[in-house]
Amino acid sequence: MHKAIRTMTIASLCIPLFMAAQSGSNVTLPQDKGPSKIDVASYPPDQQKGYKVFADKCSKCHTIARPINTTMTRPEWERYVKRMMHKPNSGIGDSQGKTIFDFLAYDQENRKDKNPSAFSKSLSDEEIEKLKAQQH
Ligand code: HEC
Repeated sequence: MHKAIRTMTIASLCIPLFMAAQSGSNVTLPQDKGPSKIDVASYPPDQQKGYKVFADKCSKCHTIARPINTTMTRPEWERYVKRMMHKPNSGIGDSQGKTIFDFLAYDQENRKDKNPSAFSKSLSDEEIEKLKAQQH
């Protein structure tokens, strides 16, 4: 009996924590609706490997379409990969973060920068909050 109450108390404390960690991933951003794949056949072998790490690690909380269709400068990607790595339970270690950043920087220069109007600029925290409010 006491054990059941304790389990229920622990569960009810954990659910809001879990939801807080996920907030921002349960909102649809404009870039989430774009393609969810990159044709990397012409990329150097190292970048093709990097693409796999990126596709695996960066699709845990939101669709991989989000980073695929977002255009940023190189320093912005550097900051952004760190921001994603530091989210609770990101599952992204330092060396994986470096591999992913190298891939995103290469992909930015060789795909996105050549056709910038096809991609979305990153949104501010305020813009993301606004979309969240509209969608819930
Ligand atoms: C632990 C969950 C999690 C993981 C893993 C994760 N993200 Fe995110 N991502 C989020 C959340 C939540 C947001 C919404 C903005 C915020 O809260 O920072 C977001 C937003 C974004 C955006 C939108 C930027 C904008 O302002 O329009 C991009 C791009 C992005 N993530 C790229 C990545 C990349 C690249 C990786 C892999 C290195 C990654 N994410 C891994 C949770 C995650």
